[in-house]
Amino acid sequence: MSGGERRTVSVEIALPPSGSVSGAAADIRAGLTKPFKEISPRYFYDDRGSQLFERITELPEYYPNRCERQILRDHSTEIAETTRASTLIELGSGSAAKSRVLLDAIRDAGTLRTYCPVDISEEITRETAEMIASEYDGVEVRGLVCDFEHDLERIPVGGPRLIALLGGTVGNLPPQQRSGFLRRVANLLDSEDYFLLGVDLIKDPATLVAAYDDPQGVTAEFNRNALRVLNDRFGGNFDPEAFEHVALWDPQNLWIEMRLRSLRDQRVRLEDLDLELDFSQGEEMRTEISTKFAREGLESIFAEADLELTGWFPSEGDEYALAIARSARPG
Ligand code: SAH
Ligand code: AVI
Repeated sequence: MSGGERRTVSVEIALPPSGSVSGAAADIRAGLTKPFKEISPRYFYDDRGSQLFERITELPEYYPNRCERQILRDHSTEIAETTRASTLIELGSGSAAKSRVLLDAIRDAGTLRTYCPVDISEEITRETAEMIASEYDGVEVRGLVCDFEHDLERIPVGGPRLIALLGGTVGNLPPQQRSGFLRRVANLLDSEDYFLLGVDLIKDPATLVAAYDDPQGVTAEFNRNALRVLNDRFGGNFDPEAFEHVALWDPQNLWIEMRLRSLRDQRVRLEDLDLELDFSQGEEMRTEISTKFAREGLESIFAEADLELTGWFPSEGDEYALAIARSARPG
């Protein structure tokens, strides 16, 4: 560090203990013992999974990343001036690649004091916290490694705060979990706080499916990585190559569904859970949903959660949007 720079960086780890009796173990067991097996997409993101996601964001087919970056470029100044945020809390921050645009705008507005990246993946959160601290002189960086569905209330107090969930990650939550999560966000918002949410919008199925089934097979590798994570965390013997990637559009639920299809009859053991699973050839297991929204639908989802939409910034071709909300009943 050269003289004169001020770096304040800390990373708090708030992950529940792992092991066979942890919440994660119960969650995995519940999903894998259903007739239609499923696992939560939070298991994509070990170090390798985070890197694969970064590669997805660079794919020509994966438009959400490009669109969100463009919206941020066009509207971050307005967002910074509206919110006057002193603390940016970013849920599911990953590498915070696009967040710099927002951070620059908040810094230029003269209000930025603290950045808090919150992510379930420890490695990427440490890297991000260090990087941002080295790039933003004088900004306090407080990384938080936690599951934002469980430990949301651990985020720093003291505002005005801007709580952001970018990338369309809200679409990965099933509707009931999404409602619970949004209600908790609303509860946390003070009268001066704002919520910034990135949402992918409903569009023609071909474009949607192409974004989740790229010809280079990066998304397929990202999908299969969930099996490697299960092997690492629960002593499993999944052979990731014995499963193929499936991405389909569900027009009733308005979501893309990613699945893994078993290429043969096979038995898999998760030693630490003392769990044996049979997969028949062609059997599919759900690994992720990615819900797509329209403005009106999101407004009613917000209203049910006591959130009020106060800003809407769509991309030029209406592929993607950033929504700004406030609490309808600020605490
Ligand atoms: N916001 C970034 C990254 C999106 S990828 C972007 O827009 O590019 C989704 C990120 O959310 C990953 O970094 C993943 O580790 C994190 N994540 C997923 N589920 C999470 C959860 N339940 N709690 C905390 N972080 C989570
Ligand atoms: C992080 N999340 C919003 C991504 C999405 O588009 O649902 C994860 C992803 N899955 C496949 N490609 C990208």
